[in-house]
Amino acid sequence: MEGLLADLDVVRKDFPILSRVLANGHPLVYLDSANTSQKPQVVIDTMVDHLERHNANIARAMHQLGAEATGAYEDARDKVAAFIGAPDRDEVIFTKNASEALNLAAATQAWPGERQVGPGDQVVITEMEHHSNIVPWQLLCERTGATLRWFGITPEGQLDLSNVDELITERTKVVSLTWVSNMLGTINPIGQIARRAHAVGALVVVDASQAAPQLPIDLAGMDDDQRPDLVAFTGHKAVGPTGIGVLWGRRAVLDELPPFLGGGEMIETVTMERSTYAPVPHKFEAGTPPIVEAVGLGAAVDYLSLLGMENVHRHEQAVTAYALEGLQTVPGLTILGPLDATQRGGAISFEIEGVHPHDVATVLDTRGIAVRAGHHCAKPAHARFGVQSSTRLSSYLYTTPAEIDALVAGLEYTRSYFKLG
Ligand SMILES: Cc1ncc(COP(=O)(O)O)c(C=O)c1O
Repeated sequence: MEGLLADLDVVRKDFPILSRVLANGHPLVYLDSANTSQKPQVVIDTMVDHLERHNANIARAMHQLGAEATGAYEDARDKVAAFIGAPDRDEVIFTKNASEALNLAAATQAWPGERQVGPGDQVVITEMEHHSNIVPWQLLCERTGATLRWFGITPEGQLDLSNVDELITERTKVVSLTWVSNMLGTINPIGQIARRAHAVGALVVVDASQAAPQLPIDLAGMDDDQRPDLVAFTGHKAVGPTGIGVLWGRRAVLDELPPFLGGGEMIETVTMERSTYAPVPHKFEAGTPPIVEAVGLGAAVDYLSLLGMENVHRHEQAVTAYALEGLQTVPGLTILGPLDATQRGGAISFEIEGVHPHDVATVLDTRGIAVRAGHHCAKPAHARFGVQSSTRLSSYLYTTPAEIDALVAGLEYTRSYFKLG
């Protein structure tokens, strides 16, 4: 099949779990990578090596190990900056996950300053957001008296941009949206929306949790008016460990924003009356950060860069196209989201008439096939399509066409199991 990674067999060997684990007695077919990806040996080894040979706290330890740990942590920042084409490495802030990064983005808009969101202001999101990019903005609106508005979704699963001029107006202070939907798979035109938002002076926040693992990202290469102001993603979906996320922000914006959390390492000086803050990125990294997790993420983005994100994206598109084709042969199955693989990422949610998604996932699990069932933290997007939940397969760079065949056969079996013909 065209588009697959050239050394797919070799790549799969990099991921020990794929060959070492039997799932219910079957070879594991892992199709839940939008939930969390599997980890290559190099990420595991790098983290173990760090803990075995370089472990110390960073920044404050005046000894060899402290210097090594600080160096490794800051090297990880360089690697992540290069991975997303950040114009400046100090624009990369480590958080514990994408949710924390998005909470940082939202909570800091409530504070006095240039950008302070207040009564009468509007925050615009979309109906296809993950809850992590809905709830923080709801909290901000509750706290400040601002109003939350959102783009709807077309029947085909695209953002409905028909009312963009009514939604993004002079009253809009923030526009926050996902680059790639974790439920519908849709790839959104973030450059186009950013341009419109910037034209009214709004801040543009992009949730890249599903984009960073799949799409080549070059922030420096984007036109200035199309480049978001803040971009969040999470390490564990991009072959990195859990416990580490990233918030990239334009230097000028980060300099302006107040701190999110207070504590050690984020200060310049502290008296009993007041404190002043360290420059970015440290202003936003209070306390001991997730050091070994950052080091693991550094190894992860190195691994992805070595494969080439263009190649990873091509692989995802080839597998997704094959999966869309295969799923549509299953009677009674409806795909939620775009049917054209070139317009979507690797997460495909679907329904099978007459079978609850939890039952689909449970039957597939008996055959060693791991998928997700539920609302995928995207309840409003499900409500838009009149369903409470769905089954979701999500492929990644290690997924083979044979695994998609196993899924399609598993779905046929599920239908027969529930006597649907
Ligand atoms: C689009 C999107 N945004 C945000 C998140 C939240 O990521 P985390 O749970 O690592 O904070 C996810 C995870 O499912 C996601 O898919």
